Amino acid sequence: MKQLVDKLERRRTLSKEEFVYLIENRTAELDEYLFEKARAVRHRYYGHDIYIRGLIEFTNYCKNDCYYCGIRKSNISAVRYRLTKEQILSCCKNGYDLGFRTFVLQGGEDGYYTDDKMVDIIASIKSQYPDCAVTLSIGEKSKESYQAYFNAGADRYLLRHETANHSHYAKLHPASLSIDNRKQCLYNLKEIGYEVGCGFMVGSPFQKPECIAEDMQFMNELQPQMVGIGPFIPHHETPFADEKCGTIELTLFLLGLIRLMLPSVLLPATTALGTIHPMGREKGILAGANVVMPNLSPVEVRKNYLLYDNKICTGDEAAECRFCMQRRMESIGYHVVVDRGDFKSAK
Ligand code: 5AD
Ligand code: FES
Repeated sequence: MKQLVDKLERRRTLSKEEFVYLIENRTAELDEYLFEKARAVRHRYYGHDIYIRGLIEFTNYCKNDCYYCGIRKSNISAVRYRLTKEQILSCCKNGYDLGFRTFVLQGGEDGYYTDDKMVDIIASIKSQYPDCAVTLSIGEKSKESYQAYFNAGADRYLLRHETANHSHYAKLHPASLSIDNRKQCLYNLKEIGYEVGCGFMVGSPFQKPECIAEDMQFMNELQPQMVGIGPFIPHHETPFADEKCGTIELTLFLLGLIRLMLPSVLLPATTALGTIHPMGREKGILAGANVVMPNLSPVEVRKNYLLYDNKICTGDEAAECRFCMQRRMESIGYHVVVDRGDFKSAK
């Protein structure tokens, strides 16, 4: 087992069978061995610095119907909202004053925000905050749209691939969505020059160790600058309402493996991880993550951006989360820094 971890660190990849073996035979002892190595690797690139990203959930309208997601279009109980450009800019102002230098615009796939509208929003943020990075997380678009946002100043794009396995993808999504298009989007984004993030849910329904092994190999092929993973958590108004949550143990283990495979990747300890365990984000950092993404959305809309049940921080002001996060990171010997937190190329 330890030899496989050593091999991953050395060769930066493993065969599918080797990944499956690691996932199926994980032990608490191996966890410690892995996490220590993962921390050493992250310290080499990022020291004890933690990058913060200000998450602005600007629309919960979505034309898609992913079976796991609380803002899927079939959820008629979701209270829908959209933020205006002025509201988004006011979130950025608040965030800037709190030391954020990256803003993440995340939303459902909402046709209301045409390319022209997005370009205007992105260009306005970049002109008011030229020292900040803008990250988009608004789903699958044409290459031309991605190019237009990039030209307007967007720096990074998050698009989780969700699962690299064909039949698993089809069990999580209606037939209108395909993993082939998803991957094509990720390659298009990379080609345009974005820093790109992919990722997946841990413990999503029907996920087998083989699926995760394929996720690892796909990420190794794509070589993303960012990877977002977090446990699957059911939402009561979705077809997966009665499915089980992903576990914290497997999520932490995979964070460690990803840190060894992609040594300088920007790796968040996600809100979902903080939702399934009160110390989830701290544990994520200690397993190799180096980013956290506190929420900058206006408190009035937060409780409406629910991808899963029991989401944390939905009643807290941005400033509360910002300082809460600082205290949490200090408590484990890490420091939140005021920095764009760009990707550092692997040595
Ligand atoms: N549990 C955990 N994560 C979820 N996401 C969507 N729904 C859920 C859920 N029920 C994740 C998806 C998506 C990201 C924005 O949130 O991976 O890409
Ligand atoms: Fe939001 Fe702690 S991070 S309250």
